[in-house]
This record gives sequence, structure tokens and C-alpha cells, in this order.
Amino acid sequence: MNLSSALLAPFVPASFGRPGFLARASSFRASDLEVDLTGVAIGVTGGTSGIGLAAAQALAARGAELTLFGRDERKGELAADQVSRSARTRARFVRCDVGDFASVDEVARALGPRPFDRFVHNAGILPSERRVTADGLEATYATNLVGPLRLEFLLDPHHERLRRTVWVSSGGMYLVPLDLRELRGQTKRFDGVRAYAQTKRAQILTARAMSRAHGPHLAAYSMHPGWVDTPSVESSLPRFYRVTRSFLRTPAQGADTAVWLTATAAPLEAGGFYFDREAHDFELVPGTRTSVELERELFDHVARDARIDRAFIST
Ligand SMILES: NC(=O)c1ccc[n+]([C@@H]2O[C@H](COP(=O)([O-])OP(=O)(O)OC[C@H]3O[C@@H](n4cnc5c(N)ncnc54)[C@H](OP(=O)(O)O)[C@@H]3O)[C@@H](O)[C@H]2O)c1
Repeated sequence: MNLSSALLAPFVPASFGRPGFLARASSFRASDLEVDLTGVAIGVTGGTSGIGLAAAQALAARGAELTLFGRDERKGELAADQVSRSARTRARFVRCDVGDFASVDEVARALGPRPFDRFVHNAGILPSERRVTADGLEATYATNLVGPLRLEFLLDPHHERLRRTVWVSSGGMYLVPLDLRELRGQTKRFDGVRAYAQTKRAQILTARAMSRAHGPHLAAYSMHPGWVDTPSVESSLPRFYRVTRSFLRTPAQGADTAVWLTATAAPLEAGGFYFDREAHDFELVPGTRTSVELERELFDHVARDARIDRAFIST
């Protein structure tokens, strides 16, 4: 592998930063994002900061009606103002903790049935310590996977209106094979980085399974944004942030593939995992391929933990 292909390889850390994005962006087709999203209702969790906020701005600029979900009311209203500046219709903020069923259920009731055409599952956490939610779930698992699935299920259980979803995963999953005990926070020692990686791998498997089960009616994609300069990287990984800061991507660069997957009319690989607008194999590191049996077990647990129909995820 020569240097330039090493830089372009999707799983090589050097390509996760700004240089990798700039190298690939030169071959992006501008026409892919010349789309009119007028009248298209889009929900973005974690749309009040970082990648989610940048994605919301880009989608609003193309005419979409944005709903931003987050926990912090003040931050949320400021973000909605910011997004509205680039929009034809006003963006709204909805307070929701996606890792907490009481909050998810209340929001689903308040929004009513089928409020969205497209949805970006972007909110995510990487805590350093184990925390168990009021629903008895480890918080990373609840926030990054189970709660978002429950929200999607309650809003549109048969995907009657919601036809396209995008999960913001992470390159952090590349080296970590799926382990259900680690995913569900049941190991003796809690390791936040591994717990996070487990949820990020499970998000990709979930998107793929949902697309297989419900496609072409539903198109579910996942992507990894690279390494992006956002508040959560600084607070969750301070040492990493200090070392990599100068070559991290901007939030807009990190959001680019999520925006493209949400907005474009270009043909896409159903259930695909994308990085910089290209589909990639997320199981290319030896030992990370998930068996059919383990995948089945994963969805049994996730559906039970989310208290949703198993068929919503996979057949
Ligand atoms: N930055 C990177 O380098 C990077 C790399 C790989 C993957 N990602 C992924 O990208 C996504 C966005 O991260 P970011 O770096 O843009 O972080 P960020 O700037 O810190 O934004 C996180 C957003 O999620 C919201 N949020 C957090 N917990 C939530 C909860 N329980 N319920 C609802 N909203 C919640 C936050 O708002 P409130 O705090 O108000 O709730 C905020 O809007 C995450 O899924 C992350 O795993 C990021």
C-alpha cells in the first residue's frame, strides 16, 4: 500500500482527520447535494451542537423543516435560531433525552404520529464511568442505540412516512468485535471507550438489518464522520483532543456524509456503511465479523431492552 492509498483507506487513522476529508472531497459530485428539500421534515438528535448542528444547518439550507433534539433547553433554542437563519422555515427545538424512556415516550406523544420523512440518529455519548439509567440500562447503550430505536418505533412503527434514516456511527468500532455483555454494560470492569465502540458497531448492524427487513420501503444507512473538532471530543477524550486538534475536521466536514445520505437522490447501497460518501466494509479487521447467530441474539436483546417489536428491527 503506497502512502496516498494508506491515507485514503477508510480505517487508517490518518484518513480520519481533515487531510483525509480534503483528499476525498475533491472528487465529490456537487450535483449530489443540489437538491430541494422543501416540505421534507427531518429530525436530528443531538442537532444542537457539533456534527448534528452542522448537519441540521446544511439540510435546512436546502429547504428542509428541521426538528433538533437535545437535553439542554438553552443550547437547543440557540441552535434552533442558528439553523433558522439558513432555513426557509423556522427550525424547532424539542427537549428530549434519547437515553431515557420517560423522555422519549413523552416526546413521541407530544409530536404525534409520523412527524418525519427522514431522521438522523446522531446524539451519542462516551462516558468514562458506568451509569445506569432509570430504565435499568447502561447509559451508553441506552443513549446511542436503545432509546433512539424506541423513539423511531414510537414515532412511526411501520415506517409509513419515515423512509430514510441515518445513524452517525464512529471509526472507533473498527477494531472492536461485537460482544453483547460489553455492549449491554454487563462486564465487571466498565471501559467507556469499548462500551462506546460496541454501540457504534451495533448501530451499523441495526441499520443494515432494518434496511434488509424493510427495504426498499425503508432505507437505513450508517456512516462514520472521521475525527471532528466538537465539544464532546474535547470533554470525553481530552488527551486525544490536545494531540489531534490541529488536524481534526470541522463539524461541517464531519457532517458531510450524513447530510449527503439524508439528502441526496444519488443511488446508494441499501443498509450501507459510509465514510466520505463511499460505502465501506465495516468488518474488514480480522475477527470483527459478526456471525448470523450473534446478530440474531443482538436484536433479541435490543428489541427486549427497547420494549419494541422484534420485527421492527429484523425478520
Ligand atoms: N466528534 C468526533 O470526532 C466523532 C467521531 C466519531 C463519531 N462521532 C459521533 O458523532 C455524534 C455527534 O457527536 P459530536 O462530536 O458532534 O458531539 P457534540 O458536539 O458534543 O454534540 C452532541 C449532541 O448530542 C446531544 N446529546 C447528548 N446526549 C444526549 C441525549 N441523551 N439525548 C439527546 N441528545 C443528546 C447534545 O446535546 P445535549 O447535551 O443538550 O443533550 C449535543 O447536541 C455522536 O454520535 C458521536 O459518537 C463523533
